[in-house]
Amino acid sequence: MKIFLDTANIEQIKEFAFILDGVTTNPTLAAREGKTFKEVIPDICKIVDGPISAEVLSLDSKGMIKEAREMSKWHKNVVIKIPMTIEGIKAIKQLSKEGIRTNCTLVFSANQALLAAKAGATYVSPFVGRLDDIGQDGMQVVAEILDVFDNYEFDTQVIVASVRHPNHVKQAALLGADIATVPYEVLKKMFSHALTDKGIKAFLDDYKKVEK
Ligand code: G3P
Repeated sequence: MKIFLDTANIEQIKEFAFILDGVTTNPTLAAREGKTFKEVIPDICKIVDGPISAEVLSLDSKGMIKEAREMSKWHKNVVIKIPMTIEGIKAIKQLSKEGIRTNCTLVFSANQALLAAKAGATYVSPFVGRLDDIGQDGMQVVAEILDVFDNYEFDTQVIVASVRHPNHVKQAALLGADIATVPYEVLKKMFSHALTDKGIKAFLDDYKKVEK
């Protein structure tokens, strides 16, 4: 499974670049860094050689397509995040014809993912944490999307997004999701286990006894 970092923070991306397959951003994450997409995306592309998602702000398909064409010129790895709306799906269909890669975002159901895949989306991003927040089962939606894509052999890849804890990543991997886009704090937690730390300390303490 590929791991993307879900952030627009350059330091966080640099720290984990060695393990990253890509990066996703959204307007909230860019705003958190006080930067526009145009300011931050080319810098991210210099650090990670993989798909880097930046999001359109228009709500109509014409505006989305115009923004997408412009953003895709920034770097060959830029992927255009388009929200899951009727206008968004129209834009994805056109951009797919032009060979511009898209990531259909704010996906909360298998039907939404099906429509995005039919339009030719490169990626769909189901938001598992936000579904869990309203008492639904985010990972169940991921499982359904994977089944639907499998049934019809869609090439569209599933990015498990809105990840809140390492267990989401594990569940995504067990289901066979293509990608999980993970916040910095969650990725850090994935590396660690109390027994690993305890084991290292015990090994080093024991070895001190024979070290001259
Ligand atoms: O980038 C999209 C998604 O991962 C947002 O996550 O935590 O704002 O629901 P969150």
